Amino acid sequence: MTARRAGSRLGAMDGDEFVLDTPVVRAFVADVRAAIAAADSPAAACDAIRPRFAALLADDDWLPQRYRESAPESGMGGGIGQWLLFRAGDRSLSLFALVVPPAAQTPVHDHLAWGLVGLYRGTQDEEIYGEDGGGVALRERRALRTGDFYALLPPRDDIHRVRTTSSDTSVSIHLLTNDTGCVWRHAFEPESGERRPFRSGYVNVPCGEGDGDG
Ligand SMILES: [Fe+2]
Repeated sequence: MTARRAGSRLGAMDGDEFVLDTPVVRAFVADVRAAIAAADSPAAACDAIRPRFAALLADDDWLPQRYRESAPESGMGGGIGQWLLFRAGDRSLSLFALVVPPAAQTPVHDHLAWGLVGLYRGTQDEEIYGEDGGGVALRERRALRTGDFYALLPPRDDIHRVRTTSSDTSVSIHLLTNDTGCVWRHAFEPESGERRPFRSGYVNVPCGEGDGDG
C-alpha cells in the first residue's frame, strides 16, 4: 500500500475516535494525516512525521497519568497495558501508549502495518526477529532510551519483542497505520517456531464483534 492510499483523506473523518481528546492530540493527528497524504511511500511519510513524533516524545505534559499505568488483565500479558488514544474512523491509523512494567516483556509479535514507535518513559531492550524457514530467528538486539524512536516498515523490522529494562515502567508511543489492538496479527514462539493468531486488544476500548477479521 502506498502512503497516499493509506492516508488519502485529510482532516477529520466520520467515526474518528479521539479517546484522548486534547488540542495536542488533534493537532498531531492532523499533521500526520497531512504528511501521509503528501508522501509517495510509507518510508517518505515516516521521514516527514519524524520531527513531529520527536516533539511528542519530548513533551512531558500531553499524556495523562492513567495512560501510563500498567494493566493486570491485559491481552499482552505481564500487566502490559495497551491504551488507545486515537483511531481513525476507517481504522487506517491508530495512536496508542504501550505500558510495560519493569522486567516484563511482550510476546514476540508482528504489527502488520507501517508507522513509528518511540520511547516516552523508561528504557527497553528490543529484539527484532526475521522470518526464517517457517519460524522466526533473532536478527538484532537494540537498547532504547527515552526519546528514541524507529520506523516500522513491514516486512522489515515488523516482528519483535520488547522488555522493560528500567526500574520504572516503560511507556512507548505507537503511531501505526491500522487499528493495531483490534486486528488479528501473530505471536510467535521463537524456540518452536509456532505462530498463533494474536489480538492484543486495548485496555480502555473494546474491539467490536467482527473487528479485525479482514
Ligand atoms: Fe510491537
